[in-house]
Amino acid sequence: MTSLTSKENQQQYYSREQWLRGYQSQPNEYDYWVDDIEGEIPRQLQGTLFRNGPGLLEVQGTPLKHPFDGDGMVCAISFLGDGRVHFRNRFVRSEGYMKEQEAQKMLYRGVFGTQKPGGWFSNVFDLKIKNISNTNVIYWGDKLLSLWEAAQPYQLDPKTLETIKLDDLNGAIGPKGSISAHPWIDPYCQLDNGEPCLVNFSIKPGLSSKITVYEFNPEGKLLRSHSHVIPGFSFIHDFAITPNYCIFLQNSVKFNPLPYILGLKGAGNCVEFQPDQPSKLVIIPRIPPYDQIKIIKTKTGFVFHHSNAFEVGEKIYLDSICYKSLPEIKPDESYLEVNFKQVDPSQLWRFTIDLDKDTIESEKLSDRPCEFPTIHPAKVGRNYRYLYLAASHHPINNSPVQAIYKFDQKTRQEQVYSFAPFGYVGEPIFVPKPNGNEEDDGWLLLMVYYGNIHRSDVVILDAKDLSQSPLAKVHLKHHIPYGLHGSWTSQTFH
Ligand code: CO
Repeated sequence: MTSLTSKENQQQYYSREQWLRGYQSQPNEYDYWVDDIEGEIPRQLQGTLFRNGPGLLEVQGTPLKHPFDGDGMVCAISFLGDGRVHFRNRFVRSEGYMKEQEAQKMLYRGVFGTQKPGGWFSNVFDLKIKNISNTNVIYWGDKLLSLWEAAQPYQLDPKTLETIKLDDLNGAIGPKGSISAHPWIDPYCQLDNGEPCLVNFSIKPGLSSKITVYEFNPEGKLLRSHSHVIPGFSFIHDFAITPNYCIFLQNSVKFNPLPYILGLKGAGNCVEFQPDQPSKLVIIPRIPPYDQIKIIKTKTGFVFHHSNAFEVGEKIYLDSICYKSLPEIKPDESYLEVNFKQVDPSQLWRFTIDLDKDTIESEKLSDRPCEFPTIHPAKVGRNYRYLYLAASHHPINNSPVQAIYKFDQKTRQEQVYSFAPFGYVGEPIFVPKPNGNEEDDGWLLLMVYYGNIHRSDVVILDAKDLSQSPLAKVHLKHHIPYGLHGSWTSQTFH
């Protein structure tokens, strides 16, 4: 990455200065009924949107090298079903957050390259990692859990968002255990008489990697878990499920821990993309005895997120957002200096895995740069038609995500609603309409940051037709920095 050309600054559909303002910290914690709503909240929309992301982009004055290092701040937006909307945000009171607030200085190094002030000497051999709990938040088993993939979740009070404690998932993971920030809910689990279950995984990386799969019932009780050791270092952020399988994409990376131990780089920066090596798909059965694992090589590329997977006969289809190479921030650069033209776009691909022949075919489904896929929750692991993503306003050029993009697998048609030139979108969440018949009978809920006024909205789009204006824009009194993942529950806590 190099500094920007003036040409990029001249693009009309976004302003770099305004986009950057969305990375300003939000140190305040709010709790209020929203009185500024444009449009009409659908009366059937009742429940709570929870969402997590970095709330502080510096620690006591020291800027972070990467937003992924920012302390987790959870937002709860409650829709009461009578037009009323309540907003609340709270920082996760993680041990590290509390200690740094008290000491009024940065005490930890970030996984993604943020170094403590004091240079090399201050960072050398400092392997303390802060559980920043900033990646996702889910309500499951009557618990609200804030997730970060390298440590235990924090349990929060769903009404007040106060931090209760670190949570070992009813004993499923040990005190030093971790669980990924990307659980899936299988809507009809065949081992549980069609009841839903939550499927998640943990990774212990090393020269070989141990993947453990966990399945929990709706009360949060562990139903099944099984571990598997696969060759090679793994950087796996997300996975996909079908009724019979968990599917992991083992990106072609290697890990060189030396610069991290020497205090020169964050651990995330020591992950080196291997463009000449293939990626591998790791397919682990969900049905006992779990031992028929397959590892199949495929073309290279880098994946953070999968949108879905499903089985048809002896084939598994896996839809993923692929980068040509790992988006890397070098130790002497800041994410704020990214030149979008020099970063490979992330695009929607489909992998077709033939379990009889052990082959994989891959096909790019769309050119539009996109991320943060979401689907109808009843279609998880099943053949599906629609997916929704955050995407670039421009159909090909890489740029900040400003649009919501609906892709129809059947017709290959696209629909786009863009918030350009002032709006920057976060992950959309699909909420099905009660009594909806079709797969796209639902709403898309998302946060939009407006760089011109430095405020955020919670926006409701009709998923059926993205050519229409939003049904409602809930105007917050302040901004919320760009976030990561969130979830919906039909419960409200007021
Ligand atoms: Co993610």
